[in-house]
Amino acid sequence: MIKIENLSKQFNGKNGTVTALDNINVEMHDGDIFGIIGMSGAGKSTLLRCITLLERPDSGSIYIDGNDILKLNKQELRKARRKMGVVFQHYNLLMQETVAKNVAFPMEIAGMEKNQIKERVNELLTLVKIGDKADFYPAQLSGGQRQRVAIARALATNPEALLCDEPTSALDVLTTKQVLNLLKEINKSLNTTIIIITHEMSAVKAVCNKVAVINDGRFVEMGLTKDVFANPSHDVTKMLLGIGEM
Ligand SMILES: Nc1ncnc2c1ncn2[C@@H]1O[C@H](COP(=O)(O)OP(=O)(O)OP(=O)(O)O)[C@@H](O)[C@H]1O
Ligand SMILES: [Mg+2]
Repeated sequence: MIKIENLSKQFNGKNGTVTALDNINVEMHDGDIFGIIGMSGAGKSTLLRCITLLERPDSGSIYIDGNDILKLNKQELRKARRKMGVVFQHYNLLMQETVAKNVAFPMEIAGMEKNQIKERVNELLTLVKIGDKADFYPAQLSGGQRQRVAIARALATNPEALLCDEPTSALDVLTTKQVLNLLKEINKSLNTTIIIITHEMSAVKAVCNKVAVINDGRFVEMGLTKDVFANPSHDVTKMLLGIGEM
């Protein structure tokens, strides 16, 4: 379970201070597909970067299975990072390396044995349905295939949670559907908790059982997707659903 308490983050820039996250509280349970939706600049990526320890919040706690990951030492932190797989909008693949090498990379860093890595790479590529692309380079793949490589790589170290920042925003409608379906399958077969950050309500509707709406660094609405869709209370939610105006 991921439990976030009173999480806040500010950035100091030339034009003053920006509050990117303002007292965020949320619980995500094992097996959830949790959508976080909001407008551009709302704080979505900052939240994901804080959970994955790519960014340090100013205050608050992030409990993963009861341990506050903000209190870990360097060694513990490395371990904790392996429990979280991250998928980005623009895939972030190593362009000079093959698909197999991209997926192997986190396992090499983790010090896994060569034969074991090879076996696992095949397993993962089959799971994301690009078993025939192991020796291809990212440039030879479509966007959807690249995202499958990124998902396989994120799953390499058997993470408990998969955190996806706009995983389908660079993809067309059909490819989006296929990648979302893949995430759903992974959630079902591996029981991996999945967090999907998006600005598309259709993506939330397609796969997320729960959703939180973020606006100006705050959660303004949260609940079961079906309830939020049936009875949106905040203007931002209504607007994202296309039934309100700002
Ligand atoms: N490294 C940074 N330095 C300064 N300000 C930042 C930094 N990162 C984010 N911000 C600011 O924090 C706020 C939230 O940014 P964030 O990237 O989390 O938004 P977002 O919801 O992911 O937006 P988008 O949908 O456009 O990706 C914005 O006002 C942004 O300008
Ligand atoms: Mg973002």
